[in-house]
Formats: sequence, structure tokens, C-alpha cells
Amino acid sequence: MVQRTLIVFKPDAVQRGIVGELLARFERRGFRIAAARALRVDKTMAERHYAVHQGKFFFDDLVQLITASPVLAVVLEGPHAIAAVRAMVGATRPHEAAPGTIRGDYALVGLRNLIHASDAPETAVSEIALWFPEGIIEYTRDVERWMTDEGPP
Ligand code: PPS
Repeated sequence: MVQRTLIVFKPDAVQRGIVGELLARFERRGFRIAAARALRVDKTMAERHYAVHQGKFFFDDLVQLITASPVLAVVLEGPHAIAAVRAMVGATRPHEAAPGTIRGDYALVGLRNLIHASDAPETAVSEIALWFPEGIIEYTRDVERWMTDEGPP
């Protein structure tokens, strides 16, 4: 089941200069980079992205964290992308994240958790539309047939 999911390298990842090595983990796993965009998120965009959390006690902190500095938004594509990417990212609170996950290997404190990742198919569709309103270029990689069950034996 090939899916697309949105990940956002949050300001802490960009400021720490570790976006490249984190993105490489997803490529190495086999995910295709379907789209990427560097941007400074404004308050309106942040509030739309986190609309589902409106009213929660941490909502203002969330908006502040993601608007603090530029981010890199990426659409990843691959089998079971939504769940597999979430598993690679790890638990929300870095100190609870398992070693081997991105948060478990790179983060430790509070909500400096480096990456946002879509949590469900409907969320992925609406988040991709929000972050990439101009659409996504379609392309295929020749290697794909070596990475699926349908390719050569
Ligand atoms: S929830 O309520 O279970 O849906 O929340 P959760 O999935 O754990 O987190 C959703 C996003 O909210 C962020 N978060 C917080 N930010 C600041 N302060 C506090 N206390 C806090 N608790 C949760 C969390 O990092 C998630 O952000 P994203 O960018 O989606 O990873």
C-alpha cells in the first residue's frame, strides 16, 4: 500500500544543521522524496496546520515553536509510509523515545522533538494540500521495482 506522508523538519532540526542526516535515514529506508520546500511558517499557517490542537493548553507553544525559524517540509512516498515514518520518528516526548528512532537518537529535552509527521491517511492528505498548494510533480525511480514485491525475483 503506497502512501504519501508529510514530514516537517522543525526549527530545532534546521538550526542544529542535522536535516540532511535525518532526511538520509528516510531515503535509506526506501522512501522516495516526492516534494520538498523550505519556508518560514507564519502564525496563520501554523494555526491551520495545528488546528486539531486548538484549545489544548499547549497550542500557543506549538505555534510559537514552529514559527520561530525556517522549516523544511518534505513529502515522503512509499509502502505504509504514514505508520512507518511515525515509527522512525519516535515518541512525542524525546526522553521517552526509543533508541534507534530519530527522537531517541537526536533529542532529549521537552518538546524540542525535531520533526512533525502526519498521523493518519486523512491528515496526510489535508496536510500535503496545506503545505504544497501548488501540487506535486509526478516522477518514478527505476530502482522502485527492486524495492517492491512486484519487481524481479
Ligand atoms: S495529542 O494531544 O495526543 O494529539 O498530542 P501529541 O500527538 O502528543 O502531540 C501533538 C503535537 O503537539 C506537540 N505537543 C506539545 N507542544 C508543546 N508543549 C506541549 N506540552 C506539547 N504536548 C504535545 C507535539 O510535539 C506534537 O507536535 P508535532 O509537530 O505534531 O510533532
